Amino acid sequence: MKIKINNLFFKYKNTDVLKNINLEIMKNKITAVSGVSGAGKSTLLLCLNRLYEEFEGAGVSGSIHSFLDNKWVDIFDRSVHLPWLRQKTGLVFQNPNPFPMSIEKNLLFPFRLLSAPKIESENLETEIINTLKKVHLYEEVKNRLKMPASSLSGGQQQRLSIARALIAKPEILMLDEPTSSLDPESEKKIEALLMELKKECTIIIVSHSQEQIQRISDHHIKIENKTASALY
Ligand SMILES: Nc1ncnc2c1ncn2[C@@H]1O[C@H](COP(=O)(O)OP(=O)(O)OP(=O)(O)O)[C@@H](O)[C@H]1O
Ligand SMILES: [Mg+2]
Repeated sequence: MKIKINNLFFKYKNTDVLKNINLEIMKNKITAVSGVSGAGKSTLLLCLNRLYEEFEGAGVSGSIHSFLDNKWVDIFDRSVHLPWLRQKTGLVFQNPNPFPMSIEKNLLFPFRLLSAPKIESENLETEIINTLKKVHLYEEVKNRLKMPASSLSGGQQQRLSIARALIAKPEILMLDEPTSSLDPESEKKIEALLMELKKECTIIIVSHSQEQIQRISDHHIKIENKTASALY
């Protein structure tokens, strides 16, 4: 097991979103999360890396324990270092969001964070190349690393966003509808990539597509009426 959620309640300022969530997320598996629009899928992801704290008035109760750096961590513990938690629990958003800088600088960005693994500068180039190869983007961008990331196609931008999450070496990789804005060809590439990545990461993917969930998930959680149930 990688994550254990007990009795989780969540609210934004005036809106109760999640109630009494109890879930176990398995290590090195792909867990899909589904539910209608507004059900609380993205919110559940924000709980797992405490990104909800960026919203004033948001509050949680209950507990989430994640197995990170070989130990169980109570992630709501105030002593948890947030940059470390967010490095360990990477998040890829629904719309590809390359930062307004070059492809290469997008990938160097996580190293500006305090908790990204320290890498000698001469090894950074190798790290960039290896990560781009891992997301099957290297051949397409190897001659334009210094060009703006915004010049990439949507599917390429999403693979870059995944690369940027991966270069920080997360143990948990969360993806919020990562293929919803992509063509079927790019969608297939990302699905194949996730199947490979589960060897090294525990993956949680929010998806609206029943077909996609069937193709790639080992487990499926549905959020309905503010609570979550594991379908398999
Ligand atoms: N920052 C916020 N402040 C207040 N309410 C919010 C905030 N973000 C989301 N909500 C509300 O919380 C509920 C859950 O939103 P959430 O984004 O988690 O849903 P979702 O399942 O991801 O939906 P979708 O499929 O449309 O992305 C919704 O009612 C939404 O309007
Ligand atoms: Mg959402």
